[in-house]
This record gives sequence, C-alpha cells and structure tokens, in this order.
Amino acid sequence: MSNVDLRRRRGDYGFDGDFRLIPAVWQATILGTICAAMAAFTVLNITAGRAVATVITGLITVWLLLTAVSYVYTTRVGKFKVWARVLAELGLRGDEDLLDLGCGRGAVLLAAAELLPTGRAVGIDLWRADQTGNSPEVTRRNAEMEGVAERVTLHSGDMTSLPFEDQSFDVVVSSLAIHNIPEAAGREAAIDEAARVLRPGGRILIADLRFTRKHLARLRSLGLTQTGRRNLGWRVWWGGPWFPTHLVTARSKQTVTVHHETAS
Ligand SMILES: C[S@@+](CC[C@H](N)C(=O)[O-])C[C@H]1O[C@@H](n2cnc3c(N)ncnc32)[C@H](O)[C@@H]1O
Repeated sequence: MSNVDLRRRRGDYGFDGDFRLIPAVWQATILGTICAAMAAFTVLNITAGRAVATVITGLITVWLLLTAVSYVYTTRVGKFKVWARVLAELGLRGDEDLLDLGCGRGAVLLAAAELLPTGRAVGIDLWRADQTGNSPEVTRRNAEMEGVAERVTLHSGDMTSLPFEDQSFDVVVSSLAIHNIPEAAGREAAIDEAARVLRPGGRILIADLRFTRKHLARLRSLGLTQTGRRNLGWRVWWGGPWFPTHLVTARSKQTVTVHHETAS
C-alpha cells in the first residue's frame, strides 16, 4: 500500500494554532465579531452613499473572511491532503520504523501508520496548547478509530532530547511543530536529535511555517545528503500566500560496507 485513503479518515484532529493565552473559542469569537462589525459598517456605508468608505470596509470584510476560510481549510483539510502526497512520494515498503516529532493528535502519525502494515509509527509530544484538545488520550483514541492502534506508540517527551537509541528509525517526520520551540538552540537540538536517531539511508521530512532555511542548513552541516526545501503550496497557506508551509527533506548517508575477498 502506498497511498493514504483520506476518505477513510475517522479521527478528530482539532485545529492548529497558539491557544496558550487565548483559547480557540475566544479567538474564533473575536474574529467573528470583527468580521460582523466590518460587514455592518459596509452596509451602513452603502446606505449612506459613502463610496470610498464602502470600498474600504468591504475589502477589509472580504479579506478577513478569506483569511479565516484559508486557515480553517488548511488546518482541517489541506494539511491532510498535502501530507498524504508527501508520504506517498516516500514510497514506503510498509515495514519501516517511523518517528513523528510533535505528533499532536496524530494527523501525520496515523496517516503514516496506515502505510506501515508491518512497521511501527512512534509519536512524541509535550501535548501543549498548539492544537485544540491536545492530549495522548485523544491521539490514542484517534489511532483506534483509524484502525492502526496496534502499530502506534506514543511517548510524552521533548523532541530536543529524544528517549531513543541512535539509528533506530528509517523515517523521521515533523509537521508544524519545531517552530514552537522558542529558542534557536532548542530548534537546533531537535534537528540534531532527528539526525541522531535516523538509520543510515533514512529520511527526514520537516514541514514548518518558520525557520525552515535554518533547519536545512543544520541538516547539511550534520552531513545529511539529498537535502532540499520546497513550498508545499496553497493547500497549506495559513490565512494567505504570505504564510506558507515549507517542506525540508534530507537523507542520512548510507554506511558503506566493504566486502573483502578472502584468497583461497
Ligand atoms: C501545531 S501542533 C502540530 C501537531 C501535528 N504534528 C499535526 O501536524 O497535526 C504542534 C505540536 O508540537 C508539539 N510540541 C511543541 N514543542 C514540542 C517539543 N519541544 N517536544 C515535543 N513536542 C512539542 C505541541 O505539543 C503540538 O502537539
């Protein structure tokens, strides 16, 4: 199997965002109120015959609505479609060990597990308020709903200091998580750890909103090969083209096995 079947998706993966200070419901209420106020001003301006003011408030209303639609589409639909494509491009055999750094409610982890019928999908997270309702229990329930629970393992821990042996994974992925680490040194540590736990010939895929050029440079400095960075397109715009998602990819070097012929 090489493609995630999105029609079979049963879990609930919440909404991405920063909900540490203001909960998601409040953020949505504030934005909705501003949109409604701008729409009301536009109607008032039309009835009062104020052409310039109508255009200004009308444009602001449309811009706010498009931003909200783009954001909700990305977090609920686009992210899943894009990762389904990215995982399909990996051409997994199905028996690999995969690690997801900052797996959250399992959007990528469980899609990957679907492609690993005889493999293992491991997720690690601190379960912060970077996603609504983020918790290991919710992710476990999603794994059961998707029918992949038997090959999914969850760890509560920090991706800057992974509790795994060197060279224990064939693939390391991370989606929208590393930018949440506040310090540059912490983000570098996460990249170093990803490279450390990767087997020879293994692959790293990091999708993120910020710092992706730095992730790429770090992977190169660690000696990884086949490195690249690309824009993942409109499906993962967080409100508009000014807030895209980039994918950083790399492969760890194959260890070269030298076979010595023994003279007989
Ligand atoms: C926006 S969510 C994305 C979750 C998931 N990867 C997805 O795409 O749906 C970011 C996740 O990174 C996790 N996270 C942030 N800093 C972390 C760290 N230092 N170690 C492990 N997880 C972390 C958060 O708890 C959260 O679950």
